[in-house]
Amino acid sequence: MTLELQVIDPETDFPSLARCLFDSHEDPPQRFFHVFFPIHGEGDKAREDAINEGATRLKLWHTQDPASYWQKVVDTKTGRVAGGAMWKIYRENPFQSPSPDEDEVTWFPNGGSRTFVECALEEYSIPRARVAQKPHVYLFVLFTHPEYRRKGVGQQFMDWGMKKADQLGYDFFLESTFYGRPLYEANGFLYIEECIVHPETENPEDDWKKIDEKVGLWTFWLMWRPAGGQSKEGKTIRP
Ligand SMILES: CC(C)(COP(=O)(O)OP(=O)(O)OC[C@H]1O[C@@H](n2cnc3c(N)ncnc32)[C@H](O)[C@@H]1OP(=O)(O)O)[C@@H](O)C(=O)NCCC(=O)NCCS
Repeated sequence: MTLELQVIDPETDFPSLARCLFDSHEDPPQRFFHVFFPIHGEGDKAREDAINEGATRLKLWHTQDPASYWQKVVDTKTGRVAGGAMWKIYRENPFQSPSPDEDEVTWFPNGGSRTFVECALEEYSIPRARVAQKPHVYLFVLFTHPEYRRKGVGQQFMDWGMKKADQLGYDFFLESTFYGRPLYEANGFLYIEECIVHPETENPEDDWKKIDEKVGLWTFWLMWRPAGGQSKEGKTIRP
C-alpha cells in the first residue's frame, strides 16, 4: 500500500475530505466534534446532510482565508482519502484583526445552541491567543481514517508541518485532542496548558441545555514546538 501526501484540489476534494473527517471523529466518538460539525437530526440522511454542509463550509473557509493550506494523504491503489490536514500559515499575528466571518456560527440555527457554540469557540481561542501573537504555523485539523491508522499518515503531515515551520523560522502551535497527544509527544511537542471549554449562562434556553449535554466538558491540550524544534522538557521556557 502506498500512502502519498498530496496538495488538495479545492474544486473536487472537499466532499471526500469531509466524509473522512466525520469517519475519523466518530471512531472513537469525540463529543467536541459536534461544535464544529453537528448532525441535526437522526439517521443516515441527517448524517449525509451534515457531511455535505461540512464540505461546503470547509471549502468556503479555505477559499476565504489566505492563510489556509490543506493537504490529503491518498491510498494510491484505490484513490481513497486516508487522512487530511488543514493548516494555517500565519505570516502575521492573526489575533491583531480577527476575521468577522469566522465568528459567525452559520451551522447552527439562531438561538441557544448557536449562542453556546459562539461562546465555546471564543473560549477555545483564548489560550492560543495568549501565547501566539506572532507569525506561526498552526495545525487546525488533522485526521486519519480509522482503517489507515498507525501507518504513518499523521506523521507525513507532521513532517511537512515541522519542515515548513523550520523553513519559515516560525513556532508551531496546535490544540490536541486526547487521541492526538501520542503523535505530538512523539514529535517532541511540549505542553503549554490543559484547557477545558464549558460555556455557562445564568438562564440557559432549552437548545443551550441540549447541546451542553451533548458536548459536555471539552478538554484539549495546547501544544507547542519552538522555531527550529530545539526544546527540552524541564529546560525550555514556554511562551
Ligand atoms: C491522531 C491521529 C491523526 C494519528 O494518526 P495516525 O495516522 O494513526 O498516526 P501515525 O501512524 O502517523 O503515528 C505516528 C506516531 O505517533 C504515535 N501514535 C499515533 N497514534 C498513536 C496511538 N493511538 N497510540 C500510541 N502512539 C500513537 C506513535 O509514536 C506513532 O508511531 P508508530 O506507529 O511507529 O509507533 C489519528 O489517531 C486520528 O485521526 N484520530 C482521530 C482524530 C483526532 O483526534 N485527531 C487529532 C486532532 S488534534
